[in-house]
Amino acid sequence: MTSAGIIEVQNSDGVNVIRMARAEKKNALSAAMYTGLCEAFESGERDEATRVHVLLGTEGAFSAGNDIGDFLAHGGGSLEVGLQPVVRFVRLLAMLKKPVVAGVDGLAVGIGTTVLFHCDLVYASSRSVFSTPFVDLGLVPEAGSSLLAPQRLGYARAFELLVLGEPFSAERMERAGLVNAVVEERAVEATAVAAARRLAAKPGRALAMSRSLVRGDVAVLGERIEAELRVFKERLGSPEAQAAFNAFLIRRATN
Ligand code: COA
Repeated sequence: MTSAGIIEVQNSDGVNVIRMARAEKKNALSAAMYTGLCEAFESGERDEATRVHVLLGTEGAFSAGNDIGDFLAHGGGSLEVGLQPVVRFVRLLAMLKKPVVAGVDGLAVGIGTTVLFHCDLVYASSRSVFSTPFVDLGLVPEAGSSLLAPQRLGYARAFELLVLGEPFSAERMERAGLVNAVVEERAVEATAVAAARRLAAKPGRALAMSRSLVRGDVAVLGERIEAELRVFKERLGSPEAQAAFNAFLIRRATN
């Protein structure tokens, strides 16, 4: 387990399994979790024996996206400091050299979906739902998704997901090209780890070079992430976003 406590890491046989483990909050990502994720990925990148990362959530929840309470706090003044762990994480995603395999069961909201555009293989249970309600929250797409989603899904589906905020089922995401295979709930993690092990068993240099070639030039992606961040930071403090965050938290408090 990392210092963040709610990110669990198990590294064996060349596979670095990283789990978001804040189940009671549906794996909503707090600042400490972003830091924990960065530490877990960075340590796997540094470790010569590690070949592949696997990213998992918990039963029924891959991630409910950024912690909305944190968003509210950042928009209220401590923006640069408060957002540092998020910024570090989205920048790191574009720089990872080793393949990432994701296993998704259930909710994948916001960055819970956009992180998947950085994964090389994605396995999802049939009950998984992918959604990015950025615009409804007064926000804009992040983590390079404004570039990667149109590339991966085509413009029409990317706009429907990112701007209209339409949730996509696992079957639809498989047809759209983000998900490799839809599997039974109880098979998600084993399927992801098995794929990671297959990758980890391949000649290491050839694996790294092949991933780099298939991904192509990431400089443009890095630039897009920075452009998104500039707008995202401006939006966080906007009256539209602050009202949406408050509405969510008040709804939760009165339920
Ligand atoms: N930020 C902060 N807390 C969150 C959260 C988030 N993004 N998502 C869920 N939680 C919390 C809830 O407040 C609740 O906490 P509580 O038990 O202390 O009240 C707990 O996690 C369980 O969530 P709940 O809403 O009861 O589960 P649900 O299955 O009914 O609904 C969601 C799950 C994800 C649909 C709903 O929680 C939601 O819409 N979350 C916000 C998602 C979002 O907009 N993320 C940001 C994207 S940019």
